[in-house]
Amino acid sequence: MITEGVFLLRDSSQLYTGRVTVLEVIQKSAEFLARKDVESPRLQAELLLAHLLKLPRMKLYLNFDRTLSDAELDALRALVRRRGQREPLQHIIGSTSFCGLEMAVNRNVLIPRPETELLAEAGWEFLSTLNSQPPTALDFGTGSGCIAIALAVKCPGARIVALDASAPALVVAGENAARNGVGERLEFLHGNGLAALPDGARFDLIVSNPPYIPSAEIATLPTEVRDFDPREALDGGSDGLAFYHLLAAEAAPWLRPGGKIMLEFGDGQAAAIRVLFATAGWIVEAVRSDYTQRERILIARRD
Ligand SMILES: C[S@@+](CC[C@H](N)C(=O)[O-])C[C@H]1O[C@@H](n2cnc3c(N)ncnc32)[C@H](O)[C@@H]1O
Repeated sequence: MITEGVFLLRDSSQLYTGRVTVLEVIQKSAEFLARKDVESPRLQAELLLAHLLKLPRMKLYLNFDRTLSDAELDALRALVRRRGQREPLQHIIGSTSFCGLEMAVNRNVLIPRPETELLAEAGWEFLSTLNSQPPTALDFGTGSGCIAIALAVKCPGARIVALDASAPALVVAGENAARNGVGERLEFLHGNGLAALPDGARFDLIVSNPPYIPSAEIATLPTEVRDFDPREALDGGSDGLAFYHLLAAEAAPWLRPGGKIMLEFGDGQAAAIRVLFATAGWIVEAVRSDYTQRERILIARRD
């Protein structure tokens, strides 16, 4: 039974008043988020409520008639307000899923993207074919640690070095490694570029999702990205290619014979990156596309 109340006010402080059911609170939250130009507002409202009630989202559908307590409404109002201010859902919830693994995220790390799962998958498929004891990989620009951790989970014998220029990102990556039970097979390195690697280190695989947004385009990105992902995780220099120049020029000596480099890049960058690597002496083995058929991953070797 729903008592009369004012549910639909522009000011989120009175987003819902009176006794409200799960279904009604979802509808009102979705309307509020739609007015704030949040994408997929109904889904976002459901995910926030499911998080609050500690239920799988689908279970909400079995509880549509349940009435929320005042405390639950207050808590939900705060979450919906934050999302209305375009804070990413993953920051509000505190984590995201990557290759089926839970990764904590906050403002110090890029929120892992679904297309990066394809890069991680290409990486662990390659590592799994190797006889090296142990297979080794470098994750350059590890951020939340998502790629390095996925490699370690999927290749139980592998050892991974996870490097980042951001010390706060490495704290998150370390927590994620422990949370996923692979902390002992990951080594974290704080450093700018490849200079932090110890002399003599050699890897079967260098994998990276480096910053690739041209500096001038950052201002045009959605608020959730522009204002909440760390700038140093986005900014690829004036043409977006700064890190590909660096890796094409400097990565080869760090590879073992037969080793490969696998890199994610941005939409429309494939041709330039192919040329850049070929010119620097790499053999480009493949350029793979993402779920939307956009070219997204470079796979190259030296020998
Ligand atoms: C696009 S994010 C990728 C994060 C994570 N690997 C992922 O795929 O979600 C790029 C990462 O590179 C790091 N980075 C930026 N400049 C760097 C540099 N000069 N040396 C090492 N890491 C750098 C950033 O701190 C950021 O964590």
